[in-house]
Amino acid sequence: MKVTIDGIEIDVPKGTTILQAARMIGPEVAPPTMCYHSKLKTSGGYCRTCIVKVTQGSAANPTPMPKPVASCRTEVMEGMVVENTINADVLEARKGVVEFLLMNHPLDCPVCDQAGECDLQNLGYGHGAATTRYEFPRREFERVVAAPCP
Ligand code: SF4
Ligand code: FES
Repeated sequence: MKVTIDGIEIDVPKGTTILQAARMIGPEVAPPTMCYHSKLKTSGGYCRTCIVKVTQGSAANPTPMPKPVASCRTEVMEGMVVENTINADVLEARKGVVEFLLMNHPLDCPVCDQAGECDLQNLGYGHGAATTRYEFPRREFERVVAAPCP
């Protein structure tokens, strides 16, 4: 299957997803992912951070797909043309997705052990907006004190 992603053409086996094809090209065109793991069969398709625009469905049917698609769940077709980093609408839509993912997330990264090595932090930095439009109080939970080990 010949597929073009951000202007770069690659040949991939049938059954390859857009995400896998993009990763074969390299990180410069590969969309970010939060719910997909290559070793987990049912992963992917939930978080929408990997959305891309299919501007040509296939060589046989060049009609663009009407909405952005989850690249981790969409298989390539012969002659498909995909836009990720070169499509301003995709980048803007992804910002919105990241904003939703962080809607109820605490803003105190410095107190978190994960800080500095965190995929969510990287996603927010690389693909999120500088501010949020969310004005409501964040969801809070009662503090749970774990019982000491016997
Ligand atoms: S470092 Fe990551 S997991 Fe920890 S608070 Fe920040 S975004 Fe959340
Ligand atoms: S990585 Fe979550 S929908 Fe594709």
